[in-house]
Amino acid sequence: MTSEKTLEPAQLAELAGHAEAAAHQAYAPYSKFFVGAAILLESGEIVAGCNVENASYRLTTCAEQTAIASAVARYGPAIRLRAVAVHNLNQTACQPCGACRQTIAEFAGPDAAILYPGPNGPTQCTLADLLPSAFHLATESL
Ligand code: THU
Repeated sequence: MTSEKTLEPAQLAELAGHAEAAAHQAYAPYSKFFVGAAILLESGEIVAGCNVENASYRLTTCAEQTAIASAVARYGPAIRLRAVAVHNLNQTACQPCGACRQTIAEFAGPDAAILYPGPNGPTQCTLADLLPSAFHLATESL
């Protein structure tokens, strides 16, 4: 039985399409690696982002982080992510980097779906697969 939380293939394909479109907006003059990400919010809204590089390389922002920052700016601090899709125009594998995994974990539960081009083609997994034991700030002492 399909649960309410399960994403339909058409929803995932739509999300991947938004990630691909966003990749065309990437500002990547240094790496020439053009990445787009699209996030599906619990509210049903989709927000996309692309990587934005900088001449001071370490200031580069990944596509996933841009998408999440845009979503917070647009919909506020209570956003929750159901799914994240990543795409690049370089036809190569592109798993979300470690920093992006932690950024996703700030706004998503362990079951959030992550779609990305893996070494063996399009891959779907959960956030928990990519980032087990995610860090969350504990506000109470042990
Ligand atoms: N990049 C992303 O946008 N997302 C990732 O998860 C991995 C890497 C970008 C950052 C940089 O602009 C380029 O890809 C090469 O690392």
